[in-house]
Amino acid sequence: MIVNTELEQKGNLFPSEIINYKKDVDTLYFTTKNSVVLQVTVVRDSVIRFRYSTTGKFDNDFSYGITIHASRGYNFLDVSEEDKYYVIKTSKLICKIEKQSLQVSLYDAKDMVLINQDEIGFHWEESYEFGGDIVKMSKISQKAESYYGLGDKPVDVNLKGKRFENWVTDSYAFGKNTDPIYKAIPFYTSIHDNKSYGIFFDNTFKTHFDFAQERRNITSFWAQGGEMNYYFIYGPQMSDVVANYTDLTGKPHALPPLWALGYHQCKWSYYPESNVKQITQKFRDLKIPCDAIYLDIDYMDGFRCFTWDKNYFPDPKRMVKELENDGFKTVVIIDPGIKIDLEYDVFKEALDKDYFCKRADGPYMKGKVWPGECYFPDFTKPEVREWWSGLFQELIEDIGVKGVWNDMNEPAVMEVPNKTFPNDVRHDYDGNQCSHRKAHNVYGMQMARATYHGLKKYSYPKRPFVITRAAYSGTQRYTSSWFGDNVATWEHLAVANNQAQRMAMSGFSFAGSDIGGFAEQPQGELFARWIQLGIFHVFCRVHSSGDHGDQEPWVFGEEITDIVRKFVEIRYQLLPYLYTAFWNHINNGTPILKSLVLFDQEDQHTHYRSDEFVYGEQILVCPIQEPNAKGRRMYVPRGKWYNFWTDEVIEGGKETWVDADLDSMPIFIKEGAVIPKYPVQQYVGEKNFDEITLDVYYKIGKEKSQLYDDAHDGYDYKKGRYSLRTFKLTGKKKEFILQQHKEGKFDANYSKFKIVFHNLPFTVTSVQIDNVEIDLNDLNSEKHSITIDKEFTELHLFGK
Ligand code: GLC
Repeated sequence: MIVNTELEQKGNLFPSEIINYKKDVDTLYFTTKNSVVLQVTVVRDSVIRFRYSTTGKFDNDFSYGITIHASRGYNFLDVSEEDKYYVIKTSKLICKIEKQSLQVSLYDAKDMVLINQDEIGFHWEESYEFGGDIVKMSKISQKAESYYGLGDKPVDVNLKGKRFENWVTDSYAFGKNTDPIYKAIPFYTSIHDNKSYGIFFDNTFKTHFDFAQERRNITSFWAQGGEMNYYFIYGPQMSDVVANYTDLTGKPHALPPLWALGYHQCKWSYYPESNVKQITQKFRDLKIPCDAIYLDIDYMDGFRCFTWDKNYFPDPKRMVKELENDGFKTVVIIDPGIKIDLEYDVFKEALDKDYFCKRADGPYMKGKVWPGECYFPDFTKPEVREWWSGLFQELIEDIGVKGVWNDMNEPAVMEVPNKTFPNDVRHDYDGNQCSHRKAHNVYGMQMARATYHGLKKYSYPKRPFVITRAAYSGTQRYTSSWFGDNVATWEHLAVANNQAQRMAMSGFSFAGSDIGGFAEQPQGELFARWIQLGIFHVFCRVHSSGDHGDQEPWVFGEEITDIVRKFVEIRYQLLPYLYTAFWNHINNGTPILKSLVLFDQEDQHTHYRSDEFVYGEQILVCPIQEPNAKGRRMYVPRGKWYNFWTDEVIEGGKETWVDADLDSMPIFIKEGAVIPKYPVQQYVGEKNFDEITLDVYYKIGKEKSQLYDDAHDGYDYKKGRYSLRTFKLTGKKKEFILQQHKEGKFDANYSKFKIVFHNLPFTVTSVQIDNVEIDLNDLNSEKHSITIDKEFTELHLFGK
């Protein structure tokens, strides 16, 4: 091959022909003449792991990305030898391995359509400087193939034609296309011929992905060290690919407490105590719902983690309690850099116990962060994580803080060109000692993990809440995340929209942007538009750097305040809907936000859409991303959709103009949906209500909706104390049936559903509840709603 010769000249090496093959239960080993071993493990019928060694020996098989809870097991596995290939068959996939070259190709087992094919496939370059290899993979990009995923990349949803690097980086005021930024999630999905697959390259070194950028028909990925080690995940539905990847790298260990899905207010920084109180009071006075208030670094004594500045916060426990009485949870920031100060116990203890990272030749890893010169705990060491978890006891158990915000954990180092540790820093990596080259991308993840375990322990029996900036694949098991230091510009509003979608399709749904922008000052209009988007992100927090003025909902004048209130109220009304989607996420790995390609991949129009997304299963949203807009054009996916504001029904599968003055935005509800709504509350748990609303969007035909509920905190739901209601709607021209099936032992406080009909196409002549006819006068006066016992099994309307 010509390409090979060229590449060979550049120092690349290639596997030669297979000389040996061995099978060990679910794992196959193919050895080449030049000692390359390809290890193929059938994880599930649709998930195959490929791992290559160039020395005949594999590294210790250890991964921070893959969870021990991942499902394993297949229905069928057959391996056969043909003239030119080995052929591995599962019930979903056929994998051919070419004897001459070790090249792999994968086919759909049902229709034999080619899904993915190595070009050169695995090759490598020896790294003289560091030892080991630079491992590479190249694959053919099929006709009209598109690519998605890769975590927080600030680019349009479709990645085709682009090249990326994964190296967790502190990126103050990053912009559209800045790469890399805060997260390293080496997972992408692809689609062609209506078939979708995904590749998770589980390698924590600096990795690169090229999606047909360098060469038009080739997609490749490579890493600066470690093994070529990737999981191939087949759909054919992209939603199944994402769910499988999420299963592999882990769903969140628990549901968040419901308050964590409320609106959060943050700024760098609210202090002293009187300022915090002013802010929280104003939320209550103006009746803008809010559940959490954040303390940024200035609450600490000289930026020493786990301390308080007693001048600003003389009695944190009392303050936190008072805030809590008013419905506010307190969340505090904790960074990884520990101030070098022999009078400071956290520093002393870590020094005594040898918990700080060291350089290759022995000195401590010293770097500047907010407190000045710091040392940094090695969170990749189990004992250090254990110690770190223990540090939260006072904050959580005693003071009553409810959430912890981990920042600067890339780890960020100031005033150095590479913004982080040098490569030679040593890490334990859970007993697999290595340099920072390998541990860098998981450092923040391991910090957040230790924080999570501390919060879990000391919050018990309540649920923990953690938020992190840096992340590697699998971090979603422990924590939520935000997108870092964005800017108050219209472009950044669009970037935030894409980042949230991209994170969700990369297994990380619990995420959001700094609403309004972190750097610089938004105009009121931009702030309002950003709130409109932000209420549809799973993590919803306003944050700003504070050096340009204030960024609370009321600082932009009354018109904006009213708009913000209106939208935050919608978020609070939709909490049961979001909570149900979250349950679906932790149970089935279903992403809470769905880019249109994920929602309807069969419709090719969706493959290049970036702005619209589906929130949960049935709400379509499209933010306004430009100033002075009276509305916008957007693509409405196939099917019929109700305009949320007007109930006008439109047929999708086309681009449409949608009106949206500043106090509105394009929101649509899928025909047939049953959307649960709480009354507006100023914070989660404020009110004890006796009924909740079910908005029923009439459809001729059938549709299924769900409503999950539990105690909104604690773990009783894991013991069966939850309720999962499935609503089956059947609509006919003059008849309507709503059936309910309930699962689980939880009984909510409310006793009734107010069922509101949207577009009931007939006049009701009789109503039956569980086969008993009721008086028509029981229909509410407007005639389009009825209030019934929440345990009904069938509501039947007849009409003329
Ligand atoms: C970093 C964070 C930001 C925080 C600031 C001060 O820039 O990204 O959210 O406010 O540090 O702690």
